[in-house]
Formats: sequence, C-alpha cells, structure tokens
Amino acid sequence: MYIALTYNVKKEDEIINKTLVKEASKYLNENIVKNYPERIDDTYAEWDSQDTIEAIADSLRKSGNDVELIEADEYAYSKLSDKKPEFVFNVAEGFYGPSRESQIPSILEMLNIPFTGSDSVTTGICHDKSRCKEILSYYKIPNPEFFISNGSLNGYNKKFPIFVKPLHEGSSKGIYNSSVANNEKELKREIDRIRKIYNQDALLEKYIQGKEFTVAMLGNGDNLKVLPIVEINLAEVPDGFNKIYSYEVKWFFDTRENKLDIFKCPADINKILYGRIEKICKDAYKVLRLRDWARIDLRLDDDGVPNIIEINPLPGILPNPDDNSCYPKAARTAGMNYEQTINAVFNEAKKRYNLI
Ligand SMILES: Nc1ncnc2c1ncn2[C@@H]1O[C@H](COP(=O)(O)OP(=O)(O)OP(=O)(O)O)[C@@H](O)[C@H]1O
Ligand SMILES: [Mg+2]
Repeated sequence: MYIALTYNVKKEDEIINKTLVKEASKYLNENIVKNYPERIDDTYAEWDSQDTIEAIADSLRKSGNDVELIEADEYAYSKLSDKKPEFVFNVAEGFYGPSRESQIPSILEMLNIPFTGSDSVTTGICHDKSRCKEILSYYKIPNPEFFISNGSLNGYNKKFPIFVKPLHEGSSKGIYNSSVANNEKELKREIDRIRKIYNQDALLEKYIQGKEFTVAMLGNGDNLKVLPIVEINLAEVPDGFNKIYSYEVKWFFDTRENKLDIFKCPADINKILYGRIEKICKDAYKVLRLRDWARIDLRLDDDGVPNIIEINPLPGILPNPDDNSCYPKAARTAGMNYEQTINAVFNEAKKRYNLI
C-alpha cells in the first residue's frame, strides 16, 4: 500500500526559547540547571526524534508498504492533497494551540484519507486535560478532583497538597518537582509559573500519592486489547524529589547513559487490582471513542482506587529498548517487537476501514 507517515521531528540540542530557560531555571534544582542547560528548553519535547521516525517508516516498509515521509508543517495540507496517499500512519503532535494533535486528523478527515489513531475530536479533547476529565467524570470513571485557575482561586475549596500542571501539554512539559504545592504560597507560585512559561491556565488537581501505572491499549470494539500493565517504579526517583514522573525524571535523571529501572512490566499487583485497572481503561477508551491505540496513565488514591491521570491518543514509541518508552515496553512484554507493534497498530486501523 502507498502510505504516508505524518510526523514532527525534534530539533536536537538547540536552545530555541531562552526566556523559557531563564524562567524555568528559577524552579528547577540548581544542579540540573548547572549540568544540563540544553535539556531545560522543552519546546520540542513532545516531538519525535529522527531515529523514531525512521524506525516507524522501516517497520511499515518491512511489511510491504511504500512509505513516504510527510512532515506536519504548515504545508502539510498541500503535500497530502497532492500526494493522496492511500493511508496515513499519523504520529504528528503539532505545534500551535491546544488542538494541535487534531490538526493532521482534521486535514485527513477533510481529504477523506484513512489514518491510524483517534479522530480530530478525541485527540483535541484528550489534549485539553480538563475536557477529558469532564467526560470521564460524567461516566463516573475515577479521576482526581480538579479546578482550573487563571490566577484566581475564587470558589476553590483548597486541600493541600495540590498538584499543579499546564492544562494542555504532554511529555511532562511543565510538570516539575515543584508541581506539588504544599501551601498557598507554593500554589500561587506554580500557577504563575504556568502562566509565564506556557501562557495558559493551570489545572489544579488533588495530589494522588499511590502507585502509578500506564496502560497500553491496542485495537477497537470487542477486539480491544489491554497490553501488560506497566508500573512506574517511583522508588527510583532520587531522594529529596517528589515521587512523581516529572520532567526532571523523564529528561534529566533517566537517560540512555544512566538508565533508571523505572518500569515494572507486568505490574506486580494482585489479580483483582489488575482486573480493575483493565476495566477502567477499557471504559475510558470506549467513552472517549479512542481508536486503534492509546496509553492511559493512572495512580491509586488513598483508598486504593485507580484514578485516571491522563490519556494519550498518540503514545510515545521510542524504538531503542535502552530508552524507557512505555508503549513499546508493554508490547515487548506481550511478545511483540517494534516492527510487529507498529504493524499491529496499522492493522487495527485498516480493519476499522474494512481494508483487511
Ligand atoms: N493529580 C496527580 N497526582 C499525583 N501525581 C500526578 C498527578 N497528575 C500528574 N501526576 C504525576 O505527574 C506525571 C506527569 O503528569 P501527566 O501524565 O499528566 O503529564 P503529561 O505531560 O501528559 O505526561 P506524558 O509524558 O505521559 O504525556 C504523572 O506521570 C504523575 O507521576
Ligand atoms: Mg502522562
């Protein structure tokens, strides 16, 4: 099949936003600021590396497809309408606005080109964490209580500690050790940080302190599979830091050279809890109308109830097992190598369009 891979590629080790680095440095640990200045700029943190893009394309080629790379830049519409691929494998995260992950899906819907993954409505909803939580709450799927603040706290019944994060970012952008606010002063400082650095409202959530899991989902309808659950081993977070999977942990502490033993897969939990997590993830997948694949993050609250933290309709898929990447890790545990994983997602999408 003639297919296109739509993507955004990371610009490596280039500091783009000096103001961000200056502001962010005020909130990060001083050793991090001193030792890794080039990793503070998170402008392109959500985007894929050239290696990942090539590995996805190679996997699709190996299963007999003719693959064209189409960068999801401002010319994406013309390129897609000129080339008219028969199918698109989409991993483009986009750049501008809260609905940036919906832009390629919208273009493809307009051009009537079939593509992998969720539609433009679902990707947009999931990228605005509060909209996603509103739907989960309507269907009584547990998720931490929340409040959106533009600086005002009127009408908010504060109970510390409070977790503060940007309303619409991914890859732990803006989620620092300082995101756990223990008092009014820290809370205001974090809301202010998110306004200054990300120019957006802050999502204030109940801080859920129990075990953390991430769950890779594959398929649709009655054939939806929950891949082996990954537990995030937060005991690996260095002493003196909050037990959260923060930007510091993902981008400073857990590197290829100095790998943390951050995943346990399958999670070492009892069958009842395992089944409960699977059920919550399947329910969430259904009510949000996710398609083909997704990754769902959860944490246990004080009563041991799994709460959904957020949903990623475009999960990260780093090819090298030396880089910790949750979806490929879960797939490997299920017996699929990288090539099989990519093609499994593609096959699920093709089945949905009755193309196989
Ligand atoms: N309400 C909360 N209570 C406790 N910890 C939380 C809460 N919200 C987020 N976290 C912690 O912060 C981490 C990052 O948060 P979240 O998953 O919302 O960010 P993200 O940038 O969308 O992540 P991803 O890299 O998965 O796209 C979580 O993995 C978890 O450890
Ligand atoms: Mg997450």
